[in-house]
Amino acid sequence: MAAVQIEHVDKIRPGGQGVLHDVSFAARDGELLAVVGPSGCGKSTLLRLVAGLESVTAGVIRIGGQVVNELPPQRRDVAMVFQSHALYPHMSVYENLAFGLRARGTPRRQIDRRVRQVGARLGLETMLERYPRELSGGQRQRTALGRAMLREPAVFLLDEPLSSLDVPLRAELRRELAALHRSLGTTMIYVTHDQSEALSLGQRMVVLAGGRVQQIDTPLDVYRRPASRFVAGFIGWPPMNFLRAESLAEMAGAPAGEAGVEYGIRPECFAAQPGGADDVQFEGRIERIESQGGEWHLELALRRERVLVRLRAEQALAVGEPLRLWVRRADLHTFDAATGQRVELARR
Ligand SMILES: Nc1ncnc2c1ncn2[C@@H]1O[C@H](COP(=O)(O)OP(=O)(O)O)[C@@H](O)[C@H]1O
Ligand SMILES: [Mg+2]
Repeated sequence: MAAVQIEHVDKIRPGGQGVLHDVSFAARDGELLAVVGPSGCGKSTLLRLVAGLESVTAGVIRIGGQVVNELPPQRRDVAMVFQSHALYPHMSVYENLAFGLRARGTPRRQIDRRVRQVGARLGLETMLERYPRELSGGQRQRTALGRAMLREPAVFLLDEPLSSLDVPLRAELRRELAALHRSLGTTMIYVTHDQSEALSLGQRMVVLAGGRVQQIDTPLDVYRRPASRFVAGFIGWPPMNFLRAESLAEMAGAPAGEAGVEYGIRPECFAAQPGGADDVQFEGRIERIESQGGEWHLELALRRERVLVRLRAEQALAVGEPLRLWVRRADLHTFDAATGQRVELARR
């Protein structure tokens, strides 16, 4: 087991394209750290740098305290699992799992025991004689994971390992992966573009955009106190609503409109009844409505803007009707309209 420290890492591609800029964060020993960001923001590049498949332009990477910048991949004690499970197609599951141990000259009997152990741990015990083409996507991904586990690395690097699977299977494997992490206790860096995956899986998360770290925090703190408008809009679904100060100022009970401030309200923070004396009261007209069974997802037209609202379905609602909703003051997020950075307004 080992911590991974990334210190002021830059990656500029030979053509001059800057991919990562002054990236610093650490995965603690035994931590499951999620790295999340939009496609193209540099997540895979970052993992490849940690694995040693590419080299940094500047900065330092440490694994278990040791600087690994100059170490080749095989000496870094990491195992990487990719989105596209790179299994050997002409080998059975058993052979795919056994491959690394054989290459290291592990005795046959020990290989057999370990392959069966890991196979059982991943629910592959009846699949060992099959070939990759005879497996479902989930079984292939389990095999790839098993191969990484058999290496008993100090660190797992997982690059969107579930994104090629369908939604129910992804949810199931996500739970299994969390359980696996709990039982192995090995440091894992899990990269994904899917914010809900990062929220549900990561003990902490690093939000990356445009090759720069935007925020490092627990999922709860990222959700409750997003460091910027970008993070606020990227984490949480449906996304946060943003309102100009003058639009909010038109609402009863709104804080005095601060110039240069933009407000953010999560769709789930609207309530059909007032909760406290200093709630902000929104009055609008229902523009669009969608039933999700126990919940309404609706678009409410205010005087100047529209907001997306998630509401418990406790009453019948229809398009065109007026609707009054309340939001707690504490659920108003504020951002500097020029820089997008979170600001805390003095609360009266
Ligand atoms: N082998 C490569 N050669 C040149 N550019 C690349 C290569 N791989 C990725 N890129 C570019 O680097 C940037 C970051 O890519 P990547 O790390 O794959 O992002 P992510 O995994 O977050 O989607 C993108 O602009 C991508 O086009
Ligand atoms: Mg990628």
